[in-house]
Order: sequence, then C-alpha cells, then structure tokens
Amino acid sequence: MTTTMVGYHQYHPMETPYESSIASTAHLSGFSSHVLGIPPSDPFLDDASDFEYDPYDDDCFSDAGSETSLDSCSMRCNPHDRPLDPFPSPTEETTNNPIEMPDTQSAAGLPTIPAEAGLDSPPRHRIFVTEHEREYHAYRAGKYVFPEDMKEKDRGDLAHMMYTQLLEGELHTAPLDDPKRILDLGPGSGSWAIDMAMRYPAATVYTMDLSGFPANSPPPNITPIIHDFDLDWPFPTNYFDFIHCREIYGGTDSYQNLIKKIYKHLTPGGYVEITEMPPRVQSKRPEAVPSDFPLLRHIKLLNKALKVVGRDPEVIDHLHSYVHEANYIDITPTKTIAPLCTWAREARWKDVGRLNMLNFLEGLEGWSLAPCTRGLGMDANSVKRKTKRCNKGIMDRRMNMFCEIMRVVGRKPVVGESITEEKRALPSPAVIYPV
Ligand SMILES: C[S@@+](CC[C@H](N)C(=O)[O-])C[C@H]1O[C@@H](n2cnc3c(N)ncnc32)[C@H](O)[C@@H]1O
Repeated sequence: MTTTMVGYHQYHPMETPYESSIASTAHLSGFSSHVLGIPPSDPFLDDASDFEYDPYDDDCFSDAGSETSLDSCSMRCNPHDRPLDPFPSPTEETTNNPIEMPDTQSAAGLPTIPAEAGLDSPPRHRIFVTEHEREYHAYRAGKYVFPEDMKEKDRGDLAHMMYTQLLEGELHTAPLDDPKRILDLGPGSGSWAIDMAMRYPAATVYTMDLSGFPANSPPPNITPIIHDFDLDWPFPTNYFDFIHCREIYGGTDSYQNLIKKIYKHLTPGGYVEITEMPPRVQSKRPEAVPSDFPLLRHIKLLNKALKVVGRDPEVIDHLHSYVHEANYIDITPTKTIAPLCTWAREARWKDVGRLNMLNFLEGLEGWSLAPCTRGLGMDANSVKRKTKRCNKGIMDRRMNMFCEIMRVVGRKPVVGESITEEKRALPSPAVIYPV
C-alpha cells in the first residue's frame, strides 16, 4: 500500500467559500447540463455501445449543446429559493468552532505529522493522505474506506441532488418543529448541512467528520468539528433535536452502537434520520442481464471486499431493527428503489436515475479502491480497469438496474411519555417504487 502525506491545505483550488450544493456542482466541466437534465438529446442512451466515460474529458459531452446558467440550476435544484453567490471572494478558513481541539500545527503553521502515518488526535484543518492517487482522511487514517478528494466531493454533491429530488426538495422526513441543535454525522461534501443551515437559520448545525468540513466559509450557523463518531462525543447527552446520518456506513465499526450513542445525545422528543445506499446493484429483469455483465460481477466483488474490510453493505437490511433495539419509538423505515440510469417513465424518476448513474460513474472507482486493495490484496490498476469496464453497463438503461435506499426515522420518547405498543412497533419498511 502506498500512503503518502499530501499535507495540509486551507482550501482546495476548486473550492469556493460558502458553497451551496448547486454552485459546487456547477463547475463540473461539461457535466452540469446533464445533471440538470437540460440537453436535448441524451448521449448516454443514444449510443452507449462505444462511449468511453471520462468526466474530465470535455469531448465526452461535446454534444451537450446548451450552456447551463446558475439561474437554471437554482430554479431546478434550489428548493428554498436562496440567493447563490457563485463567485464569492476568498476568505480565511473560518474557525467558528467553539469546541477546542488539540492544535497539531507546528510553529511554521503546518501540521507536524510523520509521513506514512495518520493522526491520532484531531487536526484543526483538513489533512489528507494519498493512496493510489486518491485522497483519504489523515486523522485516524484507514477508518473510512472511501476517498475524500474533489472527485468524491463532486460525487457527493450529485448524490445530494438525487436524495433531495427523491424527497421532492425536502431535506428530511422527520417531522421537525423549530429545531435548535442539529448534528450531521459525516457531512462529506457538506451540501446537506449547508442546505439545512439555510433552511433553519435559527438552528446551529453541528457536523462531525474525520476530515472536517469542505467549505472554507460555511454559513455562520454551521459548527464543524473533526472527530471520529465511533468514539465518545464531545457533546452533552440529551443535547440534539435532530441527528442526521447519510452514507456513512463505510466509516463505522458498529452501526448498532452508533445508533445507541445517537439516542443518548438526542434530546427527549428528538429525531434520528438515517439514509444509506450501499452499492448493491440489482436488475428488475435479471433474465435480461448477461451472466458476464461487468457491472454486476464487479458489484459482487466489491461487496465481498467491503465485508472483508469490515464495512457491510447488507447493514441496510438491519438498520430499522437496530433503531428498534435502541428503544426509539415512532419508527418509520422506508425502502426506495432508486433506478440506475434513465429507464423510469416519469421525469422525476428519470432525473433520479440520471443522477444515480452519474453518482456511480463518479463513485465506483473510489468505492472499490481501498476495499479491493486493502481487503482482497488486488492491484490498484487492475481495480481501476475493472471499474472503468463497468461504465458502459452503468449507462445501459435496458438492464433496468436499481439500488435500494434505506431510510429510517425514529424518535426518542419525551420524559414521562406513555409508550403504547403502537409507538414501539417495528413496521416492515414501506417500499417506494419508481414509475
Ligand atoms: C459519503 S460521505 C457522506 C456524505 C454526506 N453525509 C451526504 O449524505 O451528502 C461520508 C463522510 O463520513 C465521514 N466519516 C466516515 N466515517 C466517519 C467516522 N467514523 N467519524 C466521523 N466521520 C466519518 C467521512 O469522512 C466522509 O466525509
């Protein structure tokens, strides 16, 4: 395994301070017009047979035709109609974090970290290690098995758009009533936390991530901390009105324990909302899929590798039971069948499928590299070649492929509340199918 420190950076050259989920996606070259469903024709579908996908190759999208303005982005994707500032002037990285963290910086202002090693205590700034040309968190290095670089941030922004589209512009399904303290575990690209901070300006949105918060100047009501959520938390118990987790299964040793810890830190009456979509691809018409279809073969390999590195994609089948075991009430599990590619009939579901397709095209290599190299001892270049071979399949709508998104909401009872059987029930997940 080649692991080298790439050191500290205050902000990535492509990062803009105070990013919205929309502005941060709009820089994807030749890409955003597809994300936003604008081009008259869909090159993915017209002739996928000899199409080589490379998101950083403008020629890939040379027939995209239309320019995408930020106005059109905000109309389609900005549910709260907030102003967007695509070109804010650079500012210093904010340190609006009242929670004191150990200062790992040397006198020169740079962190003192042994090369080849991760950090044991949280740094003040985002610091990464490079492995097979992708960047991973340096604090407690190796814990989270997916990269955290700009490519991953772009993917995260796309995925956020997909989840928001699925909820018809909403950011959560828990019935929140004027929340004051919100915690986002593993904010990733930060889009959800930023949108929440804008949606609830009177709330403080705390984020807890191994690698910090990617926006240089987040909204003033965001308080990011660098911390491993599997450790004890630097917050009081009974503290948060709402705790949100999305796409974090790759970084916890025990979702079961995490859900119990969330309960402890929720204020009585507070809600948890968990959303996970591991790369478990299936087909609605398995008989139509050739047995040597590279994507499904690779997904099988990847799922095996994930289990070897202790990150089980099957966890989504157990999340609602874990929530029940931890004594939550009013549990609502929902399973959404998320199309991969544009085979659904309705425009909204087509958009979801298109965003999911881009999510996979951007994400599959990163999801595969560490699990397959660390877990199965595979050669990184071979993993890269294998994932590249999947691209055609990801774009093939004839295969009717889909993933499952599991969402579980639960409430911590208020003190003295009478807990009826109905409130304590564990319903089977309601299933939402694309149309
Ligand atoms: C895929 S991203 C999450 C995306 C984001 N929640 C969203 O839905 O847009 C996963 C994030 O969780 C963070 N993470 C993973 N394991 C963690 C842990 N044990 N403690 C803190 N953060 C963790 C990673 O650093 C990464 O930023």
